[in-house]
Amino acid sequence: MPTLIHLSDLHYGPGHDAHLDEIILNDIAALNPDAVIISGDFTMRARHGEFARARAFLAGISRPWLAIPGNHDQPIFQPLERLTRPFARYEQYVHNGVDSTLEANGLFLLGLNDNHPLLPGGFWSRQQRAWVEEQAARAPRDAVKVVVTHHQLLWEGKWRPAGFWYPTRALAFLARHGVELALNGHTHVPSAAQMPPGIVVARAGTASSGRTRHGNSNGYNLIAMDDKQIAVFVRHYDAQPDAFVTSRAFTFPRRVGARG
Ligand SMILES: [Fe+2]
Ligand SMILES: [Fe+2]
Repeated sequence: MPTLIHLSDLHYGPGHDAHLDEIILNDIAALNPDAVIISGDFTMRARHGEFARARAFLAGISRPWLAIPGNHDQPIFQPLERLTRPFARYEQYVHNGVDSTLEANGLFLLGLNDNHPLLPGGFWSRQQRAWVEEQAARAPRDAVKVVVTHHQLLWEGKWRPAGFWYPTRALAFLARHGVELALNGHTHVPSAAQMPPGIVVARAGTASSGRTRHGNSNGYNLIAMDDKQIAVFVRHYDAQPDAFVTSRAFTFPRRVGARG
């Protein structure tokens, strides 16, 4: 049964809680997922020192991982760098290449950079769409295809990413290529839902930054799949046991029609 841990929005910098990092790394070692996903916003202001701390955290992950950058991972105080090489620092410290794939135990993960240097994100270029098509075509036939972006495909009337005016089109595109699960972060509010093409869209909150929102404490998602269903467990930090505990669970049927 493939399992994933989905972290997001660590935001190294002011307000980051290093104690939570320790617990998360221990949870990863104990839960032993097939892969760990970190869906962007590693830093607060894309400073070198913030990225260096992110790299140290990644070095402590005991399982294969896949990462993408978030909007905060583009330099903000260096406008020329932001416009010309927005992900140079991300590539220096986190991962060489902003779009990437990972195969693990029946999972085929595609990380897609959907940031824009000037506009709220949610943009996939024509080249990125072609890349998704190519990668989906080479995925093992029975693999569960998962796409990871930073910005939310489901925006619930708030924080609409500029590039996702038509989320149903994006979901239809992903469904055509056999994607069953779409993961994102950015809003710092966890959620999970199954959308009409049958794709499960799940969002992780902020794992370890002080930027918690709307009463959600820090958290991450644990995702488990079998032949019939996809389960998303939202795990919130609870100070009393000083641990992440499962506070919500969602279960969705896997839609046969979505399989590639
Ligand atoms: Fe964030
Ligand atoms: Fe973000």
